[in-house]
Amino acid sequence: MSKQSIKLVVLVSGNGSNLQAIIDAIAQDKLEATVRHVISNRKDAFALQRAKQAGIDTSYFPLKPYTSDGRGRIRYDIDLAESINRLQPDLIVLAGWMHVLSVEFLRCIQAKVINLHPALPGQFAGTHAIERAYEAFQRGEITHSGCMVHEVIPEIDAGTVIMQTDVPIDAGDTLEQFEELMHKTEHRLLVDAIRKIGQSL
Ligand code: GRF
Repeated sequence: MSKQSIKLVVLVSGNGSNLQAIIDAIAQDKLEATVRHVISNRKDAFALQRAKQAGIDTSYFPLKPYTSDGRGRIRYDIDLAESINRLQPDLIVLAGWMHVLSVEFLRCIQAKVINLHPALPGQFAGTHAIERAYEAFQRGEITHSGCMVHEVIPEIDAGTVIMQTDVPIDAGDTLEQFEELMHKTEHRLLVDAIRKIGQSL
C-alpha cells in the first residue's frame, strides 16, 4: 500500500487535537494516508491553523449564509456534500464536527463518513458526553466510559461501530483528569480506526 493510499477529508469545528493526531501519525509513518482537505464550519476553529501549519488546504463553510437567505440547512448539507465529492476522498472523518448532517447529505456523499464520539455505543449520544459520563459515574450509574468511531447515519452517534475502547474513571479523578485521558484515548482510537478502514479499501 502506498503512503497516499487513503485520501481523507476531515471536518472540524474546534480545537482539532484529533486532526493533529492524524497529521502526526501520517508524519511518523504510523498511518498510510493523506489529508486532502480540512473543512470547518467555524471560522475561528484552531483546527484550521493546525491544518495550515501542516500545509493542508482548508475551507471555511458556514451555515449562517444559508439560514440568513432562506436556502436552509438541507441546501447547505447538499452543497457541502458536493464540494467534498469534488475532492474525491476515500473517507470523510468527522473529528469534532459540531453540525448534525442530514439524510440528504448522506444520500449525496460518495464516500464512507465516520465520526468520533467520546462515549460507548448506546451511551451519552450528542453533546457534553464526557461531562455526562463523569456525572453518571459520580452517581454510581456507570463504572467506566469509553469512546468509539462509528459510521455516520441519520441517527446521532448511532451508526455501525468500527472501533471502540473503554476509558476508566477512578473514584478520585477530577473531570479534567478524566477528560485528558478520554482525549488521549480518542487520538489513538481514531488513527487505529482510519488504519483499519484503509486496510479494507
Ligand atoms: C472530541 O472529544 C470528539 O470526540 C468530539 O469533539 C471533540 C473534538 O476534539 N466529537 P478536537 O477538536 O479534535 O480537539
